[in-house]
Amino acid sequence: MTDFTTWALDIQQRTEHALEQLLPKANIAPQRLHDAMRYALLGGGKRVRALLAHAAGSLCDANANKVDIAASAVEMIHAYSLVHDDMPCMDDDDLRRGKPSCHKQYDDATALLVGDALQTLAFQTLATTEQNLDFTPEQQLKMLSTLTIASGSRGMAGGQAIDLASVGKELTQLELEYMHIHKTGALIRAAALLGAYCANQEDKAKIAAIQQYAEAIGLAFQVVDDILDTEADTATLGKTAGKDADSNKPTYVTILGITRAKALANELYENALAALKPFGEEALRLRQLAQFIMQRSF
Ligand code: IPE
Ligand code: IPE
Ligand code: MG
Ligand code: MG
Ligand code: MG
Repeated sequence: MTDFTTWALDIQQRTEHALEQLLPKANIAPQRLHDAMRYALLGGGKRVRALLAHAAGSLCDANANKVDIAASAVEMIHAYSLVHDDMPCMDDDDLRRGKPSCHKQYDDATALLVGDALQTLAFQTLATTEQNLDFTPEQQLKMLSTLTIASGSRGMAGGQAIDLASVGKELTQLELEYMHIHKTGALIRAAALLGAYCANQEDKAKIAAIQQYAEAIGLAFQVVDDILDTEADTATLGKTAGKDADSNKPTYVTILGITRAKALANELYENALAALKPFGEEALRLRQLAQFIMQRSF
């Protein structure tokens, strides 16, 4: 078996290729919008959600070409969420993935439409049969409903609403957890589940364990994001460091302090690994991915 870095690079490359194919070409009208969609989606990001879909998919013996479709749809929703998150009406951030954020490179209205169009392209990708190999209609519906719920007001968009409403407020740990589970955890959970749903036969025990794993690592992901915001520098992050404190956002670091925030991230990591116990060696990629999420520098 290849090492984690080689495996991850392969998934990142095949995801880039799949996204490139699924996006409208930049010379198709409306050119500026298509150019901006490609700017926001291609050539950047760790592709953690695609890695999760593939790791969960391979645990369930799913065909990797099918998982590319699921992974691409989740990465589209994620990129849309970042484009909107950076807009002046939200976090007002000028830098994303080491480049000017979408509204800085283009303009606010274009960034708004990039988000709208990437979001609908994600659902189009899951719903369109011509590119969907031999997905059954039931599989497509299940993936669609999982991703819509994870993206909407009871998922990512809802978490973002709570995030904005929480500026300058002192949240309890439970309230903060609720916000993070929605704004970040929901899509990470969906990424892993969509990968598993690409398998020809559902294995309920595996899916339940994957879900438990993804919920723990999804929350850990945002705890680490909060820690990196205070500890890493802008050049390494590829986004503005110290932004949470500047914007008066409650985070795990403001609520628990850095030491306890790190301890909590570790505890969640251990919970994620514990959920994979029944699978032994089979769950190697998911375990390695959890470690990658913990040890990342950006
Ligand atoms: C950043 O996500 C936004 C959060 C949900 C914390 P990532 O850290 O996965 O961003 P990219 O895709 O690698 O740029
Ligand atoms: C973003 O959380 C969550 C979503 C985009 C849904 P943050 O606002 O902390 O993400 P960064 O730090 O800007 O990447
Ligand atoms: Mg934000
Ligand atoms: Mg932000
Ligand atoms: Mg952040």
